[in-house]
Amino acid sequence: FQYRCLVFPPVNFTLTVSALAQVLLQWKPNPNQEQKNYTIRYDVKILSPVPEEYDTEKTHSIQTAALHNGFSAHVRTLLLHNDLQIRSDWVKEKLPPPPGAPETSVTNLSCVTRISISSTVSLHCTWLPGQEAPEDTKYFLFYRYEMYTEECQDYIKDKWNRNTECRFSVTHIDPEEVDNLIVIHINGSSKYAAIKPFQRLFNQNAIEKVNVPRNVTVFLEQNDLLVTWEKPISPFPKECFEYEFYLFNLKSGNKQILKIPTNDFRLRIDVTSRYSIQIRANHHICCTRGFWSDWSEIIYVGKNDMFLSLVNAITLLKKAQQPNC
Ligand SMILES: *[C@@H]1O[C@H](CO)[C@@H](O)[C@H](O)[C@H]1NC(C)=O
Ligand SMILES: *[C@@H]1O[C@H](CO)[C@@H](O)[C@H](O)[C@H]1NC(C)=O
Ligand SMILES: *[C@@H]1O[C@H](CO)[C@@H](O)[C@H](O)[C@H]1NC(C)=O
Ligand SMILES: *[C@@H]1O[C@H](CO)[C@@H](O)[C@H](O)[C@H]1NC(C)=O
Repeated sequence: FQYRCLVFPPVNFTLTVSALAQVLLQWKPNPNQEQKNYTIRYDVKILSPVPEEYDTEKTHSIQTAALHNGFSAHVRTLLLHNDLQIRSDWVKEKLPPPPGAPETSVTNLSCVTRISISSTVSLHCTWLPGQEAPEDTKYFLFYRYEMYTEECQDYIKDKWNRNTECRFSVTHIDPEEVDNLIVIHINGSSKYAAIKPFQRLFNQNAIEKVNVPRNVTVFLEQNDLLVTWEKPISPFPKECFEYEFYLFNLKSGNKQILKIPTNDFRLRIDVTSRYSIQIRANHHICCTRGFWSDWSEIIYVGKNDMFLSLVNAITLLKKAQQPNC
């Protein structure tokens, strides 16, 4: 009981926006707090936008969060002595939401990244103007990746000349990172109203449009169809990928989609039928699933195969051209 009087709340608790969608929480030990044989730690409680609680021995902490509805946090001193844990009162602080009516913010923001053959990452975002945004509203998009922030230079406009789409053909996004965050910040200006900014955090792997599987090769071995392919362009190893295999029987109209965890596949087919084959890819073992790749180009196989007929025709022609001996 006597220890209760020995624990004082921290002082000078401040919240500072240190980057887009990033808050630095800082405080100081209470000057009345005796630094004896006790262990002093701090309980941090984030109330909004996303509740979280943790404790730390440091007197600062960095949080990443969408800040368009403000930010609010509490901190208190935690004294540990032998088996005792004694806590001070909470100290509270908040950041107010930025000005502007909520309906002036953009809505329906979605973003997609793609990895090029040279391992650079492009970013493409689309959004809708807020319902209450005046017609003269101009929106500006920024992305932050770790400590790097950049404004869009390549906007696409709607019929009222408002920016509703943005492309970065090259970004600082590291394609080899797993589950890093991409911060998107869209603010705006208008002569008639304050435009409320909007922020969203995306997991970089979750918004990647995966590249198409490469070099799809098809063989027929008696009644079996053998298909092999290469993983899509990606820094992740081939073990990270899964595939969907689309098989369409043109004779019966039967469609099948099979999930395949490897780069090859063997399937008994009806050799009197003709099939079309397509494959698409996604990663998921090494990181969060992204958007499925596009389907690979259609490959036809089986009876009436135009290519096989052509090969046969050429072979026959060659045979016919062979000199008589
Ligand atoms: C602090 O710990 C030391 C060594 O364990 C002990 O000698 C000393 O009396 C303690 N002081 C207080 C104020 O508890
Ligand atoms: C925008 O999002 C809302 C809510 O998620 C949805 O109902 C609406 O269909 C979307 N609008 C467009 C044009 O995508
Ligand atoms: C939009 O946000 C950026 C980045 O924080 C800031 O530099 C800029 O002044 C803001 N623009 C408006 C119109 O609020
Ligand atoms: C795909 O096939 C081409 C031609 O055979 C070859 O040069 C290329 O290296 C192959 N690509 C992959 C990813 O195996």
